[in-house]
Amino acid sequence: MIRVAAVGDVHFDRNSRGRLSRHWKDLEGKASALLLAGDLTQVGHEEEIKTLAADLAECPLPVIAVLGNHDYHMNQVDTIKGLLSEARVKVLDHSGTTFECSGKTVGVFGLKGFGGGFIGASCSDFGELEIKTFIHTTKNAARDLLQGLQSFNTDYKIALMHYSPTAETLLGEKKEIYPFLGSYLLAEALDAGGANVCFHGHAHKGIEHGATPGGIPVRNVALPVIGQAFKIYSLDELSKELNAELR
Ligand SMILES: [Fe+2]
Ligand SMILES: [Fe+2]
Repeated sequence: MIRVAAVGDVHFDRNSRGRLSRHWKDLEGKASALLLAGDLTQVGHEEEIKTLAADLAECPLPVIAVLGNHDYHMNQVDTIKGLLSEARVKVLDHSGTTFECSGKTVGVFGLKGFGGGFIGASCSDFGELEIKTFIHTTKNAARDLLQGLQSFNTDYKIALMHYSPTAETLLGEKKEIYPFLGSYLLAEALDAGGANVCFHGHAHKGIEHGATPGGIPVRNVALPVIGQAFKIYSLDELSKELNAELR
C-alpha cells in the first residue's frame, strides 16, 4: 500500500513558524512523501520560505513541491527554489522525480500550470499578443505535462500542480474567475499521459474531489479545502477509483 501526504496553499508568512510542523512531524511511517501543491508563501518573500523550511525540517518524509502564483509575486523564484533545495525540498518545475516504495515505483511530474478556463468558456489563441501569450503559457504547460507523464516507466504516475485541470474541484468559487483557476488543457494532458491521480491547490473555496473527463481522480488539496495540515491518499485506492470509472 503506497500512500502520499498532500497539501497546498499553506501560505506561510514570516510569523508562521510552528504552524504546521507540529502536524508534519507525525508523518513518520504514514506516507512515502509529502507533496506541496504550490502557494507555499504569501508573496514569495525569502523570509517566508525560510520560515516554511524550518517547519519542513521537522517533517520526517521527503518533500516534493511545486510553486504557486503567490510564490511568483516578488519575482524571486530562483532564490525560493535555492532555499527550498537547501532545505532538501525537491522543487518540480516542468520536471519529474521518482521514488520507490514496497517494491513499486512512483513518478511525480510537477509544474505550476496556468489558467485559461474550461470547455465552453475557455480562452483561445486568437487576437492580441497578450491573450496569445496567456494561453500559450497554458499550452506549453500541458505539452510538458503530457511528455513528462509519458516519460515515466513507473507503476504509478502522479501529477502535482497548482492550477486545476477541472472545473469540478472549483465548485464554490465564483464562475467568473474559473479561467484564472485552471484549464481543461491540463486535464487532456493527464488523460493522454495516463496519470493515476492529480493533486492541485489554488482554489481555496473549491471542493476536494473531482475527475478528468477520462476518469483520473483529481484532488484539490488546498489547505482551506481539506481543513488540515495534510491529507493522506492511497495510490491503490485512487487507482481503483480510476479503473471503476473506466469500466
Ligand atoms: Fe492559494
Ligand atoms: Fe494560488
